[in-house]
Amino acid sequence: MDYEGFKREILKMSDIDLSLYKEKQMKRRIDSLIRKNGYVRYDEYVQALKIDRDMYNEFINYLTINVSEFYRNPEQWEVLKDQIIPMLLKRSPILKVWSSACSTGDEPYTLAMVLSEHMPLSRIKIIASDIDAEALKKAKAGVYTEKSLEKLPEHYVRDFFTKDGSLYRVKDELKQCVEFKRHNLLKDPYPGGCDLIVCRNVLIYFTEEAKSQMYVKFNRALKDQGVLFIGSTEQIIMSTRYKLTPIKTFFYVKDGDI
Ligand SMILES: C[S@@+](CC[C@H](N)C(=O)[O-])C[C@H]1O[C@@H](n2cnc3c(N)ncnc32)[C@H](O)[C@@H]1O
Repeated sequence: MDYEGFKREILKMSDIDLSLYKEKQMKRRIDSLIRKNGYVRYDEYVQALKIDRDMYNEFINYLTINVSEFYRNPEQWEVLKDQIIPMLLKRSPILKVWSSACSTGDEPYTLAMVLSEHMPLSRIKIIASDIDAEALKKAKAGVYTEKSLEKLPEHYVRDFFTKDGSLYRVKDELKQCVEFKRHNLLKDPYPGGCDLIVCRNVLIYFTEEAKSQMYVKFNRALKDQGVLFIGSTEQIIMSTRYKLTPIKTFFYVKDGDI
């Protein structure tokens, strides 16, 4: 079996279409995992994935690269807090917010904390989604190491976490602001009428064609004048083709339908 055949088998087993992910980087990661598990051939590894649930979970986990942290790239969160959210609130007192590819929850909880500077927690509702069920389990549990909170301003740690030995637990009142669900950005329908969509540090893994389709879907998922917030290395080339106008570095506003 070659890599093409392997991709087809993975698509049958999961809903992950590896042909939409940048090939060189993905294949290198997969080949190294296969070797680590003591296999050399794709067909042997596929057989093993079919019968060994732990190995399958390990594969999905490895593939999805869940690295995240609270307040990742602090200056961008400051822009969101001080400029973007006030701008959105001028148009609508209630914001529909979607944190896509949210991994272990660091990002949607950060969003909830930042939004709490502008409104009571009872008014904050964030949809948070990821393709990886294991990451979502951790997100729902809301238990984090000190390391993942390193960049988070001290007052947020004080107000929204309880310390439990060396770990930090998200308080229930913050948890209630976030609804987690599984969602595949490459396949599932996007929610509509969003004021703010956060999609950071996942676009880098996708092919240009896949990204282009996603930008169209982001446009359609946003309200007019809604904002898309992307990751540090993910500028959208010719974003105006998708009626997404850059307003600040890493922030785009929808200015019409496509
Ligand atoms: C590097 S993490 C980024 C987490 C967070 N957004 C941040 O910036 O800290 C990438 C996440 O994208 C998710 N992901 C990968 N492919 C996806 C897809 N097709 N649909 C939804 N999420 C996906 C992974 O499971 C992983 O949790």
